[in-house]
Amino acid sequence: MSSQTREQWQSHRGFLLAAVGSAVGLGDIWRFPYVAGENGGGAFLLVYLLIVLLIGVPLLLGEFALGRRMQSESATAVARLLPSSRWRHAGVIGVIAAGLILAYYAVIAGWVFRYAARYLSSSAPALASGGFAASFEAYVSRPLEPLAWQLLGMVLTTAVIAKGVEKGIEKVSLWLMPVLALLLIGLAVHSATLPGFGQGLAFLFQPDWSLLAGPGLYVAAMGQAFFSIGLAMGVMVTYGSYQPATRPLPAATVAIALADTLFGVIAGLAIFPAVFSFGLDPAQGTGLIFVVLPQVFAQMPGGGLLGATFFLLLAIAALTSMVSLLEVPVAYAIQRWGWSRQHASLRLGALLFVLGIPASLGFGTWAGLPLPGERNLLDAMDFFAVELLLPINGILLAVLLGWLWPRREALQAADLLDNRLGQIWHFCLRYLVPVLLVVVLASSVSRA
Ligand code: TRP
Repeated sequence: MSSQTREQWQSHRGFLLAAVGSAVGLGDIWRFPYVAGENGGGAFLLVYLLIVLLIGVPLLLGEFALGRRMQSESATAVARLLPSSRWRHAGVIGVIAAGLILAYYAVIAGWVFRYAARYLSSSAPALASGGFAASFEAYVSRPLEPLAWQLLGMVLTTAVIAKGVEKGIEKVSLWLMPVLALLLIGLAVHSATLPGFGQGLAFLFQPDWSLLAGPGLYVAAMGQAFFSIGLAMGVMVTYGSYQPATRPLPAATVAIALADTLFGVIAGLAIFPAVFSFGLDPAQGTGLIFVVLPQVFAQMPGGGLLGATFFLLLAIAALTSMVSLLEVPVAYAIQRWGWSRQHASLRLGALLFVLGIPASLGFGTWAGLPLPGERNLLDAMDFFAVELLLPINGILLAVLLGWLWPRREALQAADLLDNRLGQIWHFCLRYLVPVLLVVVLASSVSRA
C-alpha cells in the first residue's frame, strides 16, 4: 500500500487517546494496584516511575518513530530496517504475541462484561450466592456462559477494527477515554470519603525500602511497565505508522506513558480505600476485582451503582486495549497478504476467539491439565506471551532501534535531531533497555 492511501489519525488528540486507550487496560486497573501494593508500595512506585521514564518512554518513542518512518505495520517496519538479514522476519514474533495476548485477554474481558451486565441489571446479589469467591469460581468453570461474553468482547473489538483507523479506533477512543477518566476519578473521589482511605493510601504509597535490595521489585516493575504501556508487541509501531510526519512525537510519548501510570495510581486510590474500609484482603491477584470488590460493593451504601460504574469502566478499558491488540495482526494481513480490512478483521477476530476458547475452558472443563509450573491454560498463555515473547521481542526491537538503525536517521525519525534529549534517548535505547530486558528474560526463564 502506498503512503498516500495509508490510513491516518485525523487529529493529534485522536492519536493520543488511541494510544492511551491501548495502554490503559486491565493491566492498570486490576494488576497495577496489587503489584504495587505487594512489592513495597511507595518504593515500588518510585522504581516504577524511573523505569517508565528511562525504559518505557525511550522504547515507546522508538516504536512510534519506527512505524511513522517506515509507514508500515510492525513486522514490515522491522523487515525494512533489515532488508537482507535472515532476522528480517523476526518482527512476526510481535504480531503473533499480540494475537496470543488478545486471545486470553478476551476471556478476562468477558468476565468483566458479565459482571458489568449483572450490576447494570441490578442482579448483582446473585454474585454472592454461596459466597463471592465460590460464586466467581463456579462461574468461570462453566463451559458456555463465559464463552458467550468472551465472544461479545471479540465481536465488539472486531467491529471497531473493521471500521478502520479513523472511523473505528480513533472515534471510539475519542468517545470512550474521557468517559473512562471521569468514571475513574469519580470512584477515587468517592473512595476519599471512606474510613479506610488512610489505610489504602498507606498500602499504596508507604515505602518498604528494604525491598530495593532484592531483584524481585525491579523485575516486577519492568514486567508491569511493559505490559501496562503495551510495549514490545508492535502495537505502538503500528499506531505510530498512522501518525503523520508533521506532528511531533516526543512530548506525546511522555504524555502517553505518564497518563498510563496515572491511571494505575488513580485506580489504586479508588480500590484500596474501599477494600480496607471493610477489612478485606488487598493482595488477592485475580480475586481482587472479581471477589473482593463485589464484597465491598455489597456492603456499601449505593454499592450497586458503584459496582456498575466500576465494571463499566473496566469494560471500556479492556475494549480499547483489545482493539489495539487486534489491529496489529489485522494491519499485518492487510499489508502483507493484501486482505481487505473487513476480511482481515473478521477472519482474525474469529481465529483469535477460537484460540481463546481453551483459555476459558481451562477454568472448568479442561482444568487440571499438566502444564509447567502448575499453571492453568490462561496463565500458561500469559506466561508464554508476556514473560517470554515480550522480553524477546523487546530485546530485538531495542537492538534494531538502538544499534542497527543509523543513529542520525533514528534521531530524525524521533524528532530529536539536534536536541540534547536525543543523546539520552539513544543511550537508554542502546544500553539500558536491552540490558534490563535480558535480566527480565533470565528471571522469566528461571520461573518457566
Ligand atoms: N496495556 C494493556 C493493559 O494494560 C494491554 C495491552 C494492550 C498490551 N496492548 C498491549 C500488553 C501490547 C502488551 C503488549 O491492560
